Amino acid sequence: MSAPSADVAGAAALPAGLGAAGFTVDRLDALWGPVARAALHRECPLPAVRALAGRDVPAATLARLWVLGLPVTRTALDDALPATGTAGAEALGLVAPAGPQPDDPVRPLVDLRPYAADDVHWWLASDLGERMHGGPLADDHVLGVGGASLTLARWTPRTRVTRALDVGTGCGVQAFHLSRHAGAVVATDTSARCLAFTAFNAALNRVMLDLRRGSLLEPVAGERFDLVVSNPPFVITPRAPGVPTYEYRDAGLAGDELVRRLVGGLADVLAPGGVAQLLGNWEQHAGQGWAERVASWLPPGLDAWVVQREVQDPAEYAETWARDGGHRPGTAAHTALLDAWLGDFIARGVEGVGFGVITLRRPARTGPPMRRFDELTAGSGPMGHVVVDVLAAHDWLSANDLLSATLVVADDVTEERYGRPGAEDPEVVLLRQGGGLQRAVRADTALAGLVGACDGELSVGRLVGALAQLLDEPVEALAARLLPAVRGLVADGLLLPT
Ligand SMILES: C[S@@+](CC[C@H](N)C(=O)[O-])C[C@H]1O[C@@H](n2cnc3c(N)ncnc32)[C@H](O)[C@@H]1O
Repeated sequence: MSAPSADVAGAAALPAGLGAAGFTVDRLDALWGPVARAALHRECPLPAVRALAGRDVPAATLARLWVLGLPVTRTALDDALPATGTAGAEALGLVAPAGPQPDDPVRPLVDLRPYAADDVHWWLASDLGERMHGGPLADDHVLGVGGASLTLARWTPRTRVTRALDVGTGCGVQAFHLSRHAGAVVATDTSARCLAFTAFNAALNRVMLDLRRGSLLEPVAGERFDLVVSNPPFVITPRAPGVPTYEYRDAGLAGDELVRRLVGGLADVLAPGGVAQLLGNWEQHAGQGWAERVASWLPPGLDAWVVQREVQDPAEYAETWARDGGHRPGTAAHTALLDAWLGDFIARGVEGVGFGVITLRRPARTGPPMRRFDELTAGSGPMGHVVVDVLAAHDWLSANDLLSATLVVADDVTEERYGRPGAEDPEVVLLRQGGGLQRAVRADTALAGLVGACDGELSVGRLVGALAQLLDEPVEALAARLLPAVRGLVADGLLLPT
């Protein structure tokens, strides 16, 4: 299969035509409604097909063709895109005749759909998904925007930077996001088809990208970036005959070696202060904690914050990835794939697979690098600003004496008190963070008292002294007990330095 090309007549008129047709996320949501929208997210198109039945407005024609993968008449497509026309869409490689007659309908050759994030709106072309394909995907399948793409986009700091890099760009979605806040964006992939799709999408949306072909960081050897993002092909795949080697999910290495190599190489491309934001999978083996495994991959000079968001047992993981790509459960092919995954995990002693986000930074300061490992399932909203805050809190804690600092309670923190009915004092006090890491921290009387008194007036040292008198405790003992907890509250953003 080829990829679309923007280098032909009709390309220039396409974006205006898609816009004039109302081919936008909001318009499609209005056309098919929330139930069909949710069903589409679950890969079930029928409610959307039914919702569009009988609607012949341009947006419905384009959605039927390029989102739902259904044929449309040439007349309908001519009407929907008058300047480009069906002939123009054919020349661009977006549609092909569905039959031998000149007036036969046309069928989609690509998935082309609107994508909206915050205040931006783009159209992104990728390969037809497995549902439209009607069978297992090709090895060089170009993935559209999926759940992992959205997770990485949510976790990427959107601070303005000079140079940014997207490793394994696919259809270009991360590079498009980067183009909003980076002076220059380099996007790489091993797949020529991915780069052709990204070039088409860049032309369609008038986004400037520097596209390079090659593995991992090879295409940018010797260069430095302020921000690197990657949703790499991290899927742990058995190296067994008959197991598909999808380029979008697997770079042909054993186990979690691909993520280890990428993490290990980043020290060479991060500029001072530069940040890398990656997704990854890591294996869990008996006698080795997940954090210990990922820690062993970290380049010594880089700061690291690693968040494990989910763990799957070997069977769950095998089911997910044996099914991915169009292999139906219950078929002999699917069972053979499941068996290959389970066999690989047993042979290599893999007891589970962690999925998470890795933040690396080349620190601008001296001193021991940050090593932080969290298990965090919370947070379905934007997390990029949380990454910035966590790094800044670490820097502040490294550079300042906590006892002489003054702190305030962050606006999103509330206190919850639980006790027996009628009891004078609560048995449990919880400090709950509304945003950020959404922590709930159990506080004893002294910690709750100290946090309650953090109004930016008195230093932590003076607050500890006052509490020691009030509670009749030696001040050194109280400080030794409270300071690690206060440090944790600053690191997590519940207490803020003034
Ligand atoms: C999971 S997709 C991510 C696509 C896109 N960046 C996103 O976030 O949706 C992984 C991409 O990495 C590419 N890839 C595979 N092996 C690679 C390698 N060794 N070096 C760089 N990219 C690779 C694949 O072709 C694919 O486009």
